[in-house]
Amino acid sequence: MRDLTVLGIETSCDETAAAVVRGAAPGPGAILSNIVLSQLSEHAPFGGVVPEIAARAHVEAVDAIIERALDEAGVALSDLDAIAATAGPGLIGGVMVGLTTAKALALASGKPLVAVNHLEAHALTARLTEGAEFPFLLLLISGGHCQLLGVEGVGRFRLYGTTIDDAVGEAFDKTAKLLGLAYPGGPSVEIAARGGNAKRFALPRPMIGREGADFSFSGLKTAVRQIARADGFSRTADLAASFQAAVVESLIGRTKAAMAMFRADFPRGDTFVVAGGVASNAAIREALTRLCEAEGLRIKIPPPRLCTDNAAMVAWAGLENGQLGLFGGLGVAPRARWPLQDAPVGGSQTAGTSQKP
Ligand code: KG4
Ligand code: ZN
Repeated sequence: MRDLTVLGIETSCDETAAAVVRGAAPGPGAILSNIVLSQLSEHAPFGGVVPEIAARAHVEAVDAIIERALDEAGVALSDLDAIAATAGPGLIGGVMVGLTTAKALALASGKPLVAVNHLEAHALTARLTEGAEFPFLLLLISGGHCQLLGVEGVGRFRLYGTTIDDAVGEAFDKTAKLLGLAYPGGPSVEIAARGGNAKRFALPRPMIGREGADFSFSGLKTAVRQIARADGFSRTADLAASFQAAVVESLIGRTKAAMAMFRADFPRGDTFVVAGGVASNAAIREALTRLCEAEGLRIKIPPPRLCTDNAAMVAWAGLENGQLGLFGGLGVAPRARWPLQDAPVGGSQTAGTSQKP
């Protein structure tokens, strides 16, 4: 297929990001620029993302971030083949800012718009970075999602397992809060765990041995809360390490179950992809790498800076959808909720009046 050059815009949570990528499916592609402005310091005092603050910060930053992304890539609007923006799922105020900006740019430049599903952008990142071939088994672990899916193609997903309560990133964030660790929780817990004894606290291993590949993390969080209360913060490192070990074991057990489902569906599928912010955790990466060695699967995990939210992944998802002609009209509506398995996810939807919020 012909190489495309696409601008991506990401504003669905607390990062204002813009990037330009060039390439063709199945990848890998070239990241010409990748600008991420984190709103960390603005949300840190509140211990979590405040939607109104996020939306306002996106409005203030998005134009300059896009300009920088184009500048660094050495690309003008007229050089682009398409403009892609996250259209959901996410905090609706933020999504509206990015999508509306993309529509304005598309209108002014006459370039087509691609409305990208943020989860599909995470899912396809391993194609941008390593050219992962379809079909692959995907473990998507982020702040809002925890899912195991068979990925057959762009917009073609089979759900094997999902969380019945909290997402794994959420469990990291809540554990960090309980332990008095800095926001954002995931990296703080990972760092604290390095000096800790993971065997000190016998925390539950949720869902292990259960049929299917669903996850659950709320019981684990409750167990951490009880120990943190009883023990004060004197055992922070041990508790962080014990929590992380429980998460790792739970993820491994559930992934193993999904591998069997994937093999049954795709006997020739040999690739396992990990995506989402939590995929930047080194202990989780190592454990999954060992699992794949034992199971005879090839593992592909994007580098940490492309696991957490960024716009290169949005540009790439836009590029892959664009190559299939899945452009959204300017009437595409932002969506707070947009499950991956609601095909088609490629941005071919038009007006938003009939869509779920
Ligand atoms: O994909 P992402 O940047 O945003 C969402 O789409 O949710 O993921 C953010 C989540 C947060 O919950 C954050 O605490 C978690 O990923 N995270 C980590 C690590 N880095 C980020 N969790 C565990 N270990 C990490 N190193
Ligand atoms: Zn994300």
